[in-house]
Amino acid sequence: MLHIRASGPRSDADRGTVVFIHGFPFDGSMWEPQLDALPEGWRGLAPDLRGFGQSPMDDGTGDAPSGKRVGNGIAHADEPVLTMACLADDIAALIEEECDGPAVVCGLSMGGYVALELHRRHPDRLRGLVLADTRATADSDEARENRLRMAQTVRSSGTRPIASAMIPELLADSTRVARPELVDTVRSMILGTPPETVVAALAGMASRHDSTGELPGIDVPTLVVVGEHDAITPPDYARKMADGIPDATLAVIDGAGHLSGLENPGAFDLALREYLEGLD
Ligand code: MLT
Repeated sequence: MLHIRASGPRSDADRGTVVFIHGFPFDGSMWEPQLDALPEGWRGLAPDLRGFGQSPMDDGTGDAPSGKRVGNGIAHADEPVLTMACLADDIAALIEEECDGPAVVCGLSMGGYVALELHRRHPDRLRGLVLADTRATADSDEARENRLRMAQTVRSSGTRPIASAMIPELLADSTRVARPELVDTVRSMILGTPPETVVAALAGMASRHDSTGELPGIDVPTLVVVGEHDAITPPDYARKMADGIPDATLAVIDGAGHLSGLENPGAFDLALREYLEGLD
């Protein structure tokens, strides 16, 4: 059972529901600015993915795949692996339980990988897609090597060293200078993620499918969002991804890095609002 933050009661969702999927290694609280700013008639749901925030790793059915089955070298045989398929199935079940019909799904970075997997596995649950600061490609060999090193660090020393290494990559320089409280929020989210979850998600992301060939088959209205200074999934890549999707628009978020919805919520929320108005 996933822990979910909701912007209001189900009865308020007469125009639809947006399901927000957080990035790695965060939790659903990263979407609070968006939950607060949805237009009238839209309900927002921001779950903590399995193992993150307040959601348990095991849903009681023993469904979380283990390293033994996925075996990509990052997770050990006795460790769980959070595959994008497992996370996407959780979101499909959430939409089934919480929404009256298909939902708009908005995923940032790892959340975008999950959203693309949801499109592949459960296209009937999707009314629209928002792909924020993410990519359709699989990991390169170099990215997998980095994940292996990160998993070793987390096993031996916990999440503190990875928080320090990740923050300069995640946030634009200007955000880090002007918004120390946001830096603290991001650091707390990383430190609050259990090491077991970090390793499981690293292994899952490293074994994810390349979705590039599936972009032309996305048949729901799509908004691609990217921070102007995103160093992890840069604007040039986001533009190419948007060009590959038949009904997609691109919004570049001024002054933001990889965590565009947190760094410049005003611009992110405006782009989301315009996209949602277009769906009506
Ligand atoms: C994220 O923000 O979710 C990560 O950058 C995803 C990744 O490590 O590929």
